[in-house]
Amino acid sequence: MSEKIRIDPITRIEGHMAVEAVIDDGTVKDAKSAGTLFRGFEIILQGRDPRDANRLTQRICGVCPTAHATASALCIDEAFGLTNEIPANAKLIRALIFGANFLQSHILHFYHLAALDYLDAASVVGDLAPFVPRYEGDYRVSSEVSAELVNHYLRALDIRRKCQEMLSIFGGKMPHNVGIVPGGVTERPTEDKITNFLWRLNEIRDFVVNSYIPDVIAVAKAYSDYFEVGIGCRRLLAYGGFDLPSGKLFKAGIVAPDLRLERFAKEHITEDVKHSWYVDSDSGKNPTAGRTEAELNKKGAYSFLKSPRYKGEACEVGPLARMVSNYVQDSSETKELVDSLLGELDAGVDALFSVLGRHAARALEAKLVADAMAVWLQQLKPNEPVIVDSKIPEQGTGAGLTEAPRGAVGHWMTVKGAKIDRYQVITPTAWNASPRDDKGQPGAVEQAIIGTKVKDRDNPFELVRIVRAFDPCLACSVHLLDVRGSELGVFRVV
Ligand code: NI
Repeated sequence: MSEKIRIDPITRIEGHMAVEAVIDDGTVKDAKSAGTLFRGFEIILQGRDPRDANRLTQRICGVCPTAHATASALCIDEAFGLTNEIPANAKLIRALIFGANFLQSHILHFYHLAALDYLDAASVVGDLAPFVPRYEGDYRVSSEVSAELVNHYLRALDIRRKCQEMLSIFGGKMPHNVGIVPGGVTERPTEDKITNFLWRLNEIRDFVVNSYIPDVIAVAKAYSDYFEVGIGCRRLLAYGGFDLPSGKLFKAGIVAPDLRLERFAKEHITEDVKHSWYVDSDSGKNPTAGRTEAELNKKGAYSFLKSPRYKGEACEVGPLARMVSNYVQDSSETKELVDSLLGELDAGVDALFSVLGRHAARALEAKLVADAMAVWLQQLKPNEPVIVDSKIPEQGTGAGLTEAPRGAVGHWMTVKGAKIDRYQVITPTAWNASPRDDKGQPGAVEQAIIGTKVKDRDNPFELVRIVRAFDPCLACSVHLLDVRGSELGVFRVV
């Protein structure tokens, strides 16, 4: 007999998300993932000074605002005709600011959100929040490893603080930095700032190499069956990210289920809304033509996330997509990292398409980014420019596509009469946690959940482990709340 379970809200993720699963004979036959709050920044931006997008879109999220700072700056650069004028120093400082946020976000995700799915923290510290309440059962790592992980949980708080301090050296402050602006950055590199950045980076790199990666391996060894759980759609998408004078650290690409690489072109992105609370006339459009107009009482809709698709296909974005995209494009640093980890775990590349594969890809990526940051720091030239002058055009269009900690993020803008006429944001979590599209095709998280065996419907830890491995950020994907509840169709912006 089939039964439906609903996990609402899913805890220990960023933002507000629910999952519904139809379970038949212990296996998930159908699943729905839903973003349960409305965002609406696209509406707020209409009619404003285009440069405001760089300030306002950062407020979409307090965890990954730097991704929106970067995407909006790239978008405005293009609309203002500055893309080829950005100084080398500015590209490096933007990457250093963004890299600091990547490291903070990845360490936060593993230690403070996801690791508690695997370690019996309550056995180490007692029944204390935030370690309880939790789903019970299936805690397999030894008590020694659990104690070590709890120690690292605390140490990770301090390391994350150092990431934020490091970001602030060039970004001014965190969460919403004031360093990344259209045309470049506001802060000049000095020997003093470079030194201050470097000693923090060295401590963080040491933590990534000597704690984060070994801890992920320890969890992977205790839960090796999770290399076969949560496989997902196997179609990966990376826009490419960390735009440096020498090219991009993360290579753009679409990776098909057979690991064949396809060139990425942003014209193939569309957003369906048949199952989202938005008007149907906006369905199937590229974000250069899309709008955000809510329709709250729409029949068949179940999410505030739209359904982004590439050539009509659901795609997974994030560290797994980036590491595999780099891997199949022969990036030697990525290959070396991935091959050495897979060797240690006695697993093949296919194992990456799983709950544990996503955690492993994220940890390896933290090392890749941290190592690269040390090189970028040395490339800064203290006496050279960090910004170019700009003028608001009467008309213009721009697209800013980059890689957020959680995956591909894009901003699209049309300027008319020197004001924002249209603005669209597609977040990584819209790709991963999207509802069904107009053809009925489930999103990446939904596909990863379908087929999962659930031992105990009252403790569906298998499902939350799958969802958390994607590191969803619903704060980014959706936002504002209709506080009046029953008055559907009316939003109050607070
Ligand atoms: Ni976010």
